[in-house]
Amino acid sequence: MDPYKFRPSSAFDSNFWTTNYGAPVWNNDSSLTLGTRGPILLEDYHLVEKLANFERERIPERVVHARGASAKGFFEVTHDISHLTCADFLRAPGVQTPVIVRFSTVIHERGSPETLRDPRGFAVKFYTREGNFDLVGNNFPVFFVRDAMKFPDAIHAFKPNPKTNIQENWRIIDFFSHQPESLSTFAWFYDDVGIPQDYRHMEGFGVHAFTFINKAGQSHYVKFHWKPTCGVKCLLEEEAIRVGGSNHSHATKDLYDSIAAGNYPEWTLYIQVMDPAHEDSFDFDPLDMTKIWPEDILPLQPVGRLVLNKNIDNFFNENEQLAFNPAFMVPGIYFSDDKLLQARIFAYSDTQRYRLGPNYLQLPVNAPKCAHHNNHYDGFMNFMHRDEEVNYFPSKFDPVRHAERFPMPSRILTGKREKCIIEKENNFKQPGERYRSWAPDRQDRFIGRWIKALTDHRVTHEHRSIWISYWTQVDKSLGQKLASRLNARPSM
Ligand code: HEM
Repeated sequence: MDPYKFRPSSAFDSNFWTTNYGAPVWNNDSSLTLGTRGPILLEDYHLVEKLANFERERIPERVVHARGASAKGFFEVTHDISHLTCADFLRAPGVQTPVIVRFSTVIHERGSPETLRDPRGFAVKFYTREGNFDLVGNNFPVFFVRDAMKFPDAIHAFKPNPKTNIQENWRIIDFFSHQPESLSTFAWFYDDVGIPQDYRHMEGFGVHAFTFINKAGQSHYVKFHWKPTCGVKCLLEEEAIRVGGSNHSHATKDLYDSIAAGNYPEWTLYIQVMDPAHEDSFDFDPLDMTKIWPEDILPLQPVGRLVLNKNIDNFFNENEQLAFNPAFMVPGIYFSDDKLLQARIFAYSDTQRYRLGPNYLQLPVNAPKCAHHNNHYDGFMNFMHRDEEVNYFPSKFDPVRHAERFPMPSRILTGKREKCIIEKENNFKQPGERYRSWAPDRQDRFIGRWIKALTDHRVTHEHRSIWISYWTQVDKSLGQKLASRLNARPSM
């Protein structure tokens, strides 16, 4: 099986033009008219079909992460972690799994510049023998909000103003002044890494805690980290303006050209592993994705390497129609109770059924490469040809049976229904540690970006004092510097 050979080119082997239904086209230059000047006859079906197809060439862009580039390659296990997980594709060093990866920016539209300050998506689809495993992460290890209820508002605040259609800083400053949990992510967003040099020189993170389960049914929490072997590089503001000004697709081009030149981008996959028995021993909630797990306590352990060695053949098929889903788990890997992750389990297929149609998983780039079987088909654009009489289960006429049972986390869960925030918020400590780990020039650039954001003419004194108060709680000297440069005081 060639995992990359999706469309049979034999379907397109005619030497002459045809209509979509295969009839010969003897003139692809002129419309059928009455006389030499027209009018055009409606019976020119070839013209009608050609225009109709053209008029429907665009599909709705992703509501977030619309701008992206993808490439194919493989993931190879380099270290044995079979004591942690029974995932087949992680079973032993040397095992390779085909992958497709999509990098993206988050906020702006499909054709927007790739040099804007924005998180970057880092989504990997592993075509395993037990179905697709999608690790749909970002280039920051933390996220702005910790409850899905706030996600649409957070995105609206970042997206262009619905009146002016321009991204406006005051809306971001305003919304997030109500969300101190966002500070840890703003310590990445307004840092130099807020504009990666390109997709090859950035890290990736699964962000959430996931669960590994081994053959014996033992569970561990795990976080995933991708580290580029060529190092992390960023663009400072002036460089970003220069690069973006000369090519608004510079990162897509860089990825494509590197692979075409045989300079294959590579990342090492590391995991951090936590025994769930220890989850209460931290001053933060380990399932809170506004937090990183300290690497001195939970060290990074290498697992494998990701190599991108093949460019896509067709952008529409393998980028626009590509659909990732954090719900796609394989035996041996499971979710955690992270609330935001739980909501993502719903959101992706929901949007993709709208964006691509209910049978989007039949599209070659999204379909599993292993044998699969169920009765969830029909609906718009079902193009799976099935010749069978039993489409229900169970049946004495259909030998398909349940798969072998695989282990799931066995922890007993109890609780009453409630709507609440997590207990250990601890919003200020980690961004402070991050800020203090930077060299003075990096700290200055961070402060400069905040000064710019907070001096937007629509940002009020109240906003400024809230933000100065937040950053003072993160780091006293940071708050003081902001206050003195803004000639303002924190609202403590
Ligand atoms: C409740 C929170 C979230 C919701 C509701 C949400 C929703 C969505 C939706 C609707 C899409 C478009 C999918 C498509 O059209 O194919 C998307 C894309 C994406 N999201 Fe999220 N998201 C959330 C949080 C996150 C987080 C925390 C991360 C990173 C860890 C993330 C990473 C991505 C990436 C990388 C993509 C682009 C996938 C691609 O390249 O096609 N999202 N998200």
